[in-house]
Amino acid sequence: MQPLLLLLAFLLSPKAEAAPGLSISVTLGAHNILEQEKTQQVILVTRAIPHPDYNPDTKANDIMLLQLKKKANLTAAVRILSLPRRIAQVKPGMVCSVAGWGRQGVTTNLSVRLREVELEIQSDKQCNFHYKDLYDSTTQICVGNPTKIQNSFKGDSGGPLVCNNMAQGIVSYGKKDARPPSVYTRISSFLKWIARTMRYLKLQRPN
Ligand SMILES: *[C@@H]1O[C@H](CO)[C@@H](O)[C@H](O)[C@H]1NC(C)=O
Ligand SMILES: *[C@@H]1O[C@H](CO)[C@@H](O)[C@H](O)[C@H]1NC(C)=O
Repeated sequence: MQPLLLLLAFLLSPKAEAAPGLSISVTLGAHNILEQEKTQQVILVTRAIPHPDYNPDTKANDIMLLQLKKKANLTAAVRILSLPRRIAQVKPGMVCSVAGWGRQGVTTNLSVRLREVELEIQSDKQCNFHYKDLYDSTTQICVGNPTKIQNSFKGDSGGPLVCNNMAQGIVSYGKKDARPPSVYTRISSFLKWIARTMRYLKLQRPN
C-alpha cells in the first residue's frame, strides 16, 4: 500500500503543522474510537502536505496528502480504495456512500462508532443555488438530496465519498443546520497534483 492518505486540509490547522515536536498519527481499521480494537493500526504521519492553493476562508482546494512512517498492513479492516480515473466522473442521480464519526444531529455529540450513509449526487445547479459564491463545480461535487434528511455533518470532514468502489470525493463543508446538499472535494480534479506530489516524496525518501 502506498503510505499516503488523502485528507482534508482543514483537519490540521497551520498552527498544528508548525508546532515543533507535535506528532500526528492516523488510526486505520477503527470502528469504535474509544476502544483499542484489535483491528486498529496506528501509524505516525511523517509529512502533511496541504494543497498549495487551499483557502481556509472559501475551502477551495480542500485536500491534503499525509505521508505515513510505515506501510499499513492490508487486512479485513484495512484495504485500499482506488482513485478515480479521469473519465469515470460522477453524475447526478448516482448513489454513493460516505462514512464518518460525525454528529448525528445539530445538537448531538460526535459518534463513537463509525457510521455510513448512502447519498445521491446532485446537479451542480443545486449547489450553485445553495452555496452561491463558494461552490466550484470544477473542483467540487454537490452531494445529498435536499428532500431527504440524510447527510454528512460536523466531524465527518475528511471522510471519503465512495462510488463504485472508487474514492470520488472528500467531505468538505455544508450548512449549519445540517440540511443537504453538502459540498465535497472532487478528487478527480486533483489527480495530477496527487501524482506529482507522490513522485516528489518518493525522490526525497527512496524506499
Ligand atoms: C503489520 O504487521 C507486522 C507483523 O505482525 C507488525 O509488526 C506491524 O507493526 C504491523 N504494522 C502496523 C502498521 O500495524
Ligand atoms: C455528550 O458529551 C458530553 C461530554 O462528554 C456528555 O456529558 C453528554 O452526556 C453527551 N451527550 C449525549 C447525548 O450523549
